[in-house]
Amino acid sequence: PSTDTVLVTGCAGFIGSHVVEELLRSHNAVVGVDNFSTGRMENLANVIEDSRFSIQRTDLTDTVAFRRVLEQVRPSAIIHLAALVSVPQADRDPDYNFRINIEATHVLAETAAKLGVRRIVMASSAAVYGDAHQGALHEDLMPCPLGRYGAAKLISEQILAVAARVGGASASCLRFFNVFGPRQDPSSPYSGVLSKFVDLGRQGKALTIFGDGEQTRDFVAVRDVARACVAAALESEARVEIANVCTGAEVSLNSIATMIQRLVPDLPAPVYLPARENDIKRSCGNPDRARTWWGFEAKAPEKALQDFLVGAL
Ligand code: UD1
Repeated sequence: PSTDTVLVTGCAGFIGSHVVEELLRSHNAVVGVDNFSTGRMENLANVIEDSRFSIQRTDLTDTVAFRRVLEQVRPSAIIHLAALVSVPQADRDPDYNFRINIEATHVLAETAAKLGVRRIVMASSAAVYGDAHQGALHEDLMPCPLGRYGAAKLISEQILAVAARVGGASASCLRFFNVFGPRQDPSSPYSGVLSKFVDLGRQGKALTIFGDGEQTRDFVAVRDVARACVAAALESEARVEIANVCTGAEVSLNSIATMIQRLVPDLPAPVYLPARENDIKRSCGNPDRARTWWGFEAKAPEKALQDFLVGAL
């Protein structure tokens, strides 16, 4: 590649926009790609004036156009975040899930190999583990996704791993746990719980908790996720990697509700509704691998959650 440019797919999304900011903090030229279906220009307000950043409005399911962008930019590394991010929608529209969450990865891997791209980082998900395992989830466990979203992420990991093995770009597949932070869209029924809680809290409305609220998640701050993506993209070692991006700690929904209640004392008590079907009771990742490889350490969740909630409410 002729440039030291990093290309970010899904640049206008919740996580993508933070990744662009983080890349620019470490002085890289960045080309962002987005189709603006769920991504929003407002998310890029902090970087839009930066001369080192430019945007290509391209849909990754238009494989001809996507290939052309890659050939024009010839990036040294790619951070691939564009995806159908709704788990239930992936099961409702499997064809679209296939095109964006699988086929686009294939196009990216093959084109990157031809262009001599050094490195690809892909957003994978804790969804690849399913719920067959007890205790902290580590990368050597047998994946067992429960739906098409997790399956597509697992297949994409394999596509990149094989491409790397046969001479393509080296690849990092980062399994994100429950990401939260500024710019997460609260508007869909399946939006991340933190974005919904903040939205309700700001409106002075009772939080809705599905089930008894004792379910736990490994909540990781979006700024930390962005740091992990950039560390993986810029590292020089050419290995194929799969690594959790998580804190290693579990936080229950009830304890988050309590934090919010303290910050908004007039908020009515939470409303408990029936548990979601197939809701995972406990989810927690083992963070050791990302720490060993990149020295990546996410902020402890209580502190990160408190900081976020104080700023957002
Ligand atoms: C998350 C990911 C999903 C991934 C899955 C697998 C998000 C938005 N989703 O789903 O992509 O496949 O992990 O590990 O990060 N809840 C409430 N009240 C609400 C909303 C949610 O009580 O108003 C509860 C849910 O029932 C669940 C918990 O909060 O128990 C977290 O829900 P959610 O944020 O949707 O994420 P996951 O279900 O963990």
